[in-house]
Amino acid sequence: MLRRDFVIRLPLAAGWLSTAGLSGCVSTPYLSPITAAGDLRVPLGAIPVGGAFVRTGGAQPLFVSLDAAGDPHAVSSRCTHRGCQVEPAGERLVCPCHGSAFDRSGRVLEGPAEDPLERVPARIEGDDLVLDVAERGRDIGSGR
Ligand code: FES
Repeated sequence: MLRRDFVIRLPLAAGWLSTAGLSGCVSTPYLSPITAAGDLRVPLGAIPVGGAFVRTGGAQPLFVSLDAAGDPHAVSSRCTHRGCQVEPAGERLVCPCHGSAFDRSGRVLEGPAEDPLERVPARIEGDDLVLDVAERGRDIGSGR
């Protein structure tokens, strides 16, 4: 291979690798819940191991997951530092804006955020994860 060919092909190969890497990533799904008697319901089967976002009609979705014991967790995805949306990264929820990290139940692991993510009562009923948003309506995570 000529040096010129190598110089041309290297960036192309790097581009393919990064594209292949991205296409290999599993993005977190956004689920649309069913509303029933003031609660939001999501089929348990729709929640992957890594968790899912649930649209609530508010500014930012909730993040729901099941822990190793099968207990549900639901938190606002609105970072308590300045309001960016946190993203799952392994067992943590990480804010892309300034790096705060939370556990799946919303506790602060790393700042600059000082306050936990807003928790939403969640329970399992039959085949559904039920989110009790009745008290707050759909404004959870809006910062109000
Ligand atoms: Fe999340 Fe600043 S907004 S760390």
